[in-house]
Amino acid sequence: MEYITIALAKGRLAKKALELLEQTGVTCEEIKDKDSRKLIFTNEELKLKFFLAKANDVPTYVEYGAADIGIVGKDTILEEGRELYEVIDLGIGKCRMCVAGPASAGALLGNGELIRVATKYPNIAKAYFMNQKHQTAEIIKLNGSIELAPIVGLSDVIVDIVETGSTLKENGLVVLEEVCPLSARMVVNRVSMKMEQARITELISNLRSIVE
Ligand code: PRP
Repeated sequence: MEYITIALAKGRLAKKALELLEQTGVTCEEIKDKDSRKLIFTNEELKLKFFLAKANDVPTYVEYGAADIGIVGKDTILEEGRELYEVIDLGIGKCRMCVAGPASAGALLGNGELIRVATKYPNIAKAYFMNQKHQTAEIIKLNGSIELAPIVGLSDVIVDIVETGSTLKENGLVVLEEVCPLSARMVVNRVSMKMEQARITELISNLRSIVE
């Protein structure tokens, strides 16, 4: 039997994803060892391999078939725009993609003028301003601490993830518009879906029965 390989997005999502998998009987003890620098883990009994990757790279591994299955946030799936099947909303890692900024920046939204937008998600931001708001936006790509941008005058607004809202609040910013709700999804390689159908379908239906 071939191994089925599962790519997990590193970070806060990985732990919750592993807990869900565990509830379906899919376990991987080794991966929980925080001190380990090991990148790939095997469950010989179930013929499964697991690896942790940067969230943005998970859709890439799955599109190319280096992983059959991925667990990653909808934000990353939208941003990366890879060819894959999105099969389950796992209901974990729930948050929202929002346009945020100082309350005064609300007046700049939809007024037809050029707006400067800082974000870690340039494709999502571009699509939102172009297709939904029909507003010309200058997108400034950043890699973290996005909330800084409007505070120091780099941008008018940001497009970023809001979970509890406390980062915005502590920095005197507010949600101006919601782009879309987000949560973690299970994605599957298009060929694996056909070839490994029985085992993957079983995993999908087991997970579905837990999350629904
Ligand atoms: C994310 C996001 C916000 C924050 C939102 O950043 O970019 O900054 O979490 O969460 P909250 O609404 O609960 O405050 P993350 O912590 O991933 O780090 P980053 O600054 O490196 O993007």
